[in-house]
Amino acid sequence: MCGIVGYVGKQKAVPIILEGLKRLEYRGYDSAGLCVPGTRGLPVVKKAGRVDTLAKEVAQHKLTGTSGIGHTRWATHGAVTDANAHPHVSSDGKFALIHNGVIENFAQMKTFLGRKGYTFQSETDTEVLSNLIAYHYAKEPTTPGQNRFLESVRKTLRHVEGTYGIATLCVDFPGEIVAARQASPLILGVGDAEYILASDASALVSRTTNVVYLKDGELAHLTPKTFSISTLDQADVSPVVDTITWSIADADKGKYPHFMLKEIFEQPAALENSMRGRFSADGSTANFGGLNLTPAEFSAIERLMFCACGTAWHACLVTEHLIERFARIPVEVDYASEFRYRNTPLDARTLFFVLSQSGETIDTLAALREAQRKGYRVLAINNVVGSSIAREADGGIYQHVGPEIGVASTKAFTSQLLLGAMVALYLARMRDMSYSDGVEYVNALKSAPDLVRQALKLAPRVKAIAKRYAKSRDMLFLGRMSLFPIALEGALKLKEISYIHAEGYPAAEMKHGPIALISEKCPSVFFAPKGELFNKIVSSMQEIKARKGPIIAIVTAGAELPKGLADEIITLPDCHEAVLPIVASIPVQLLSYYIAVERGCDVDKPRNLAKSVTVE
Ligand code: F6R
Repeated sequence: MCGIVGYVGKQKAVPIILEGLKRLEYRGYDSAGLCVPGTRGLPVVKKAGRVDTLAKEVAQHKLTGTSGIGHTRWATHGAVTDANAHPHVSSDGKFALIHNGVIENFAQMKTFLGRKGYTFQSETDTEVLSNLIAYHYAKEPTTPGQNRFLESVRKTLRHVEGTYGIATLCVDFPGEIVAARQASPLILGVGDAEYILASDASALVSRTTNVVYLKDGELAHLTPKTFSISTLDQADVSPVVDTITWSIADADKGKYPHFMLKEIFEQPAALENSMRGRFSADGSTANFGGLNLTPAEFSAIERLMFCACGTAWHACLVTEHLIERFARIPVEVDYASEFRYRNTPLDARTLFFVLSQSGETIDTLAALREAQRKGYRVLAINNVVGSSIAREADGGIYQHVGPEIGVASTKAFTSQLLLGAMVALYLARMRDMSYSDGVEYVNALKSAPDLVRQALKLAPRVKAIAKRYAKSRDMLFLGRMSLFPIALEGALKLKEISYIHAEGYPAAEMKHGPIALISEKCPSVFFAPKGELFNKIVSSMQEIKARKGPIIAIVTAGAELPKGLADEIITLPDCHEAVLPIVASIPVQLLSYYIAVERGCDVDKPRNLAKSVTVE
C-alpha cells in the first residue's frame, strides 16, 4: 500500500523523491505529495491523482533543498482529496509526516489533542500522529546528549497501536529525518554521502544497492553525515548492511508498454531462476537450502497447511493438489485473512507454509505469527528478499524472479506454482515416489521454461480473441483438478484489470448455478487438457453450447474437440501434470491483459488496487 520516500544528502531532493515516487506508484496511486524544506518552514506540495500531477505542481514551486520526504497514497482513512494526501504537517507547523499503515487508536489521540488545542485539516490518522509528535516535542524538556526530535518521535510511537512505516521532518532540525516501522516495510539505502528511505528497493536501487532492512519497533535517524538505528526502548542497534542483487533495469518497463506484459514475457527466465541449483545431483528430487528442517523432520510430517491471499492463494490450491496426488499427504489451504481468526484445530505434525510475493501482506504475516504462536514452524515461499515474512519465517524458499511491479501478479504466480510442484516432489520422493518417476518429474519441471516460451508464441492469437470478447460484461473460467485454481486465477486476472465480472468454477460445478448466467453474451473459458477427464469437460462444454454460450477452449496438443463445439481454440503443448498449471496460466494472463488494453484500462494500476496489501 502507500509508498514512502525520504532523502538526505548533497543533491537536490525533489528529482530524487519524484523518481522514487514514480517507482513506488504501484503501491498506491490515489494521491501524492512531498515536503522539501529550504531556508524556511516545511513547504508541502500535495495533490489528489498520480505522481505526474504532483510533478507538474511541484514545478511551480522553487524547492531546492537537499533533504525531504514524499508519499504516494492508497486511501485508508478519508477520501481521495488534496487535503488527505501526505505529508501532513502538525498544526504548530513543526513536523511534516508521511505514513504507510493504519493507526488504530487515532480517535482517542485526536480527542486528546483537540482538547490541548491542536487542530486538523484532514480526516487522516497520519495528521493525528504528526500532532502527537508535536505535542511530545513541546512538552518534553531537552535532555543533554539526546536528540529532541528523535526522542519526541520515539515517545509518540510508544502510544501508538497499529501499523506504520513513517518518515518525519522537524523544522528545528534541518537536513534530518526520523523514520520508523511497525509491520509496514521500510528500507534505508546507504549511498555515497546520502541516505534514501523507501518502502521498497525499487525506489532506491538507482542510487545504491547497499540497504538496511529496518525491523519492527526500530527507528532510523538520518543526518547529512551519518545515520543511527535504535529501538522504541532506546537501545542502539548495529545496522546490518545487505546488498540488493538486482539492478534498476529489472525495475524498468524496457521495450514493453506495460510492466504486466513485460513480466508475462519474463516468465521463462523467472522459472529458470526459481529452480536454479534446486535439484539433487542425481536429478530425481528437489533440493532446498533454506528450509531449516532435517529430512527426518520432513518425513515425520503428517499434514500440511498453506495460507496466502489472492493470487498466491491460488498457487496454494495447485500445490495442495500436487502434494496430495504425488506425496499422498493431506493438505489444507486457507485464506490467511480467515486463518488468523478462525482458530483452526491443528495436528502436532502439521507443517505450515505461507506464500507471498511481497512478503508484506499483513494477513499472511498475521497467519504466520498465529501459527508460530501456537508452536508451529512456518516456512515461506516469498519473492522479496528481506521482507517481513522472509525474516519472520522459520525457513523458506526465495522465488528469485526479480521485482514484480505490475499490480496483477504473473511471474511471481507461475514461480510459486513451480516451487509448490518442487515441494510436492521433495515430499513425494521421501515417501513412495520411485527414483525413475522422480527423474521424469524433474525433467518435466526443467522443461517448463521452454513450454512457457512456446505458449507465449500464442500471444498474437490470444490478442485477436481478446478483441472479439472485450465488450463482454461477464465471463466464466472453468477447469478441473489442478486447473480449477487456474480458472480462479484467470477470473481474478480478468476482473482486476479489465473490470469485467468473471468467476472461476470447477467445470462440472457450473451446472449447479453459474449456468444461469450463460447466454450468447457470456463467454466461457474452458481448460480442456488431454487426459482422463477430457470427455467429461467436453460434456460440460456441450451444456454451455446448448444454451448459446460462446466457448474459448484452452486445450493441449492431441486433445481433439468435436467440430464446431468451441468458438475459439488455443492449443498448448502437451505436458506433465506438475507443469500443466504453469503453462495453462499463460493464455489466461494474456487474455486478461489484451482485453484490458482493448477496453482502455490502466493495466499496471487498476482502480482501487495496490500491489502490496499492508493493511487489514
Ligand atoms: C492479484 C494479486 C493479489 C496478490 C495478493 C497477495 O493479481 O497480485 O491477489 O496475490 O494481494 O500478495 P502477496 O503475494 O504479495 O502476499
